[in-house]
Amino acid sequence: MFDRTSLAEIKKTIAGNIEEVLDHFEKELLEGPADFNSLVADKLPVMSIGQWLGLPASDYSLLRSLTNDQTLSQEFFPSPSQLARADAAAHGLQEYFTAVVRERRAAPGNDPISSWIATWDTLEPDRERADEEAHSMAVFVIVAALETTEHLLSSMVRLLLTHPEQLDRLRAHPEYLPNVVDETLRYDPAIHAISRIAPHDTVLGDTLVREGEMVQLMVGAAQHDSRQYTDPEDFDVRRRPSHFGFGSGIHYCLGAPLARLEGKLLLTSMLKRMPRLRMSEPPSWEPRVSFRRLNHLMVTAS
Ligand code: HEM
Repeated sequence: MFDRTSLAEIKKTIAGNIEEVLDHFEKELLEGPADFNSLVADKLPVMSIGQWLGLPASDYSLLRSLTNDQTLSQEFFPSPSQLARADAAAHGLQEYFTAVVRERRAAPGNDPISSWIATWDTLEPDRERADEEAHSMAVFVIVAALETTEHLLSSMVRLLLTHPEQLDRLRAHPEYLPNVVDETLRYDPAIHAISRIAPHDTVLGDTLVREGEMVQLMVGAAQHDSRQYTDPEDFDVRRRPSHFGFGSGIHYCLGAPLARLEGKLLLTSMLKRMPRLRMSEPPSWEPRVSFRRLNHLMVTAS
């Protein structure tokens, strides 16, 4: 999905988005405490993905709220009202991208959605089915990309602000910067549980999992296992951890290079521009288990 060439192309756009969003954030900070989550972390991923897919900026807030609602379906025990919101959002996303695919088929551009349509045309003679595959892909990508990257950005900043000794270390050793994204994904990943269905009877440890049964892999907990990590409860920017934050195996995250790039560019710019940032109150969390989300991350620069 993202090779070196496409990443190099997208890098300039992301860097520009970061400066634009931080300009606005800095202005808000002049007035007093401001919410990093809504002003920065929630803004950047939809800008990157929206521009990459060639979607109008006026649709970004709709896409954000639809993906936010859609992820509720991935909780362990969603309430009926959460499920209803998730269903409505899934329907809204499907409608939105069905229209986009229709437009791109009529007037193809130089964008991923047009190229998915062209690829499906070579595989699927039925045009309607080919279009369904293309819009499902677009829905999947936007759902996979937004909440996850938003959490990475807010979690990374939260962890550095609550571990000032690590922030000082990072300022003194900028070479640790690439580690921060991965240490954040180990310490507090966006996705704490990955589910799998057993294709046949399987023994995991000493437990028999029957064919068709679902298993929740608690990857967030595994990443604090002292048999795998030295001092796992320490957030340490010197660490270069292997982790399941982007999954593993054949379903390994296809957007990992983009998310890493976004995290590194944002942090580089914030370290330069915001030397006095600190949290002004404890963050508030959405009551979720499998898909982490901060509601607010109030910070001050004074
Ligand atoms: C910090 C940001 C991100 C995190 C933490 C993350 C996490 C994950 C995880 C854990 C999986 C594996 C799910 C499983 O095994 O069931 C996954 C898969 C995937 N991710 Fe991401 N993701 C992120 C960003 C993105 C972005 C930006 C995109 C697209 C632009 C993306 C696209 C995908 C896709 C297409 C898959 C499915 C791969 C497959 O099944 O072959 N992700 N991601």
